[in-house]
Amino acid sequence: MKSIIITGGAGFIGSHVVRLFVRKYPQTKIINVDKLTYAGNLANLKDIENAPNYMFVKADICDFDTIYSLMQNEHVDGIIHLAAESHVDRSIKDPFTFARTNVLGTLSMLQAAKLYWESLPEKYEGKRFYHISTDEVYGALEITDPEGVRPPFTTKASSSEHHLAYGTEFFVETTKYNPHSPYSASKASSDHFVRAFHDTYGMPTIVTNCSNNYGPYQFPEKLIPLFINNIRHRKPLPVYGKGENVRDWLYVEDHARAIDLIFHQGRVADTYNIGGFNEWKNIDIIRVLIKTVDRQLGRKEGEDLNLITFVTDRQGHDMRYAIDSRKLQKELGWEPSLQFEEGIEKTVRWYLNNQEWLDSVTSGDYQTYYEKMYANR
Ligand code: NAD
Ligand code: DAU
Repeated sequence: MKSIIITGGAGFIGSHVVRLFVRKYPQTKIINVDKLTYAGNLANLKDIENAPNYMFVKADICDFDTIYSLMQNEHVDGIIHLAAESHVDRSIKDPFTFARTNVLGTLSMLQAAKLYWESLPEKYEGKRFYHISTDEVYGALEITDPEGVRPPFTTKASSSEHHLAYGTEFFVETTKYNPHSPYSASKASSDHFVRAFHDTYGMPTIVTNCSNNYGPYQFPEKLIPLFINNIRHRKPLPVYGKGENVRDWLYVEDHARAIDLIFHQGRVADTYNIGGFNEWKNIDIIRVLIKTVDRQLGRKEGEDLNLITFVTDRQGHDMRYAIDSRKLQKELGWEPSLQFEEGIEKTVRWYLNNQEWLDSVTSGDYQTYYEKMYANR
């Protein structure tokens, strides 16, 4: 592949994918297409912004003409599509934005790729449209073991002392879609469009559904960075409901490695689930965060447990997500590289050492700064 578009490359996961590809594939042009919404921040890519194989294009994925011209001009043969509105709470307040970006934006990317690739003599030969989706499209699992049980599977990510599952059911690639939030409904719809482009036009598509990611550069509206920042500043920690909802956490760089592997070796028209068999109740993860932040700041460990504040639950709050990623492990040999405790330790350290980044994204200053910088180029 000579030229790849990565959409949403200025966001949390996208920036890790762009960095990995720019460094690992110096002969491939990596084109980061991002609208720079509140969630997009070019400071996430400062270390690679001058790499000769990196190009940034500020564009809205819904802008079909721009995307189509870019594909033609840059002879794009691969797309890794991450751009999306990604925060469930925002989708509950403003579902239209989610339908526009996640559904129509994906459709615009698909249609531009179709028209461009079908115009080439080789057509779809050597092309890839890889769509990044979420486990939330499968709906919610029940908690059948509130105390947690030893799960039947292990991975490095979950091989910690905690290692529990809160039910016997897991999401597999064939689990029926049953999205509940406007966010997951929009992602489910986009997944269906991607598969429809394979089934109708023969486009070589791949879809992956991943569990909750954590790590550096995540926008501090999501649980882990929000709470690390609040603990540091001794602000209340708003725990939705009783804090008993369960999420399955994966270190973001392990997701990026899976994306690289699947983009290059995954089977066309297939689906892979990505996750670490690493389930945590929110309240347990919050306690770990408090202890870790306190320790790293030289405070008495657990001193800030009193910041926990139970607040009104999220509407339609999905109870449990748990991914079965054995297909990816068996077929492509992927495994998470990082145990959860190590990942949390690294993540907390990163946010505490990058207070400036946190302050700039919470103030919104970064958008003006980079918009000016790019306008002057
Ligand atoms: P994010 O919100 O951090 O980043 C999204 C990026 O997309 C931002 O840079 C934003 O500027 C860009 N964007 C938004 N609308 C756009 C538009 N109309 N045109 C061009 N760019 C636009 O999101 P994230 O957490 O990095 O998630 C990336 C992808 O991975 C999403 O598709 C999400 O559904 C999926 N996903 C996320 C997780 C997770 O835990 N964060 C887990 C599984 C799947
Ligand atoms: O499962 C994958 C999904 O994970 C991705 O598709 C989404 O893009 C990503 O945002 C994430 O969704 P969640 O809703 O699970 O993540 P969030 O960080 O918003 O919340 C994690 C859990 O913590 C969830 O049960 C809600 C709870 N929570 C969250 C916030 C922000 C709180 O209790 N308090 C909070 O303030």
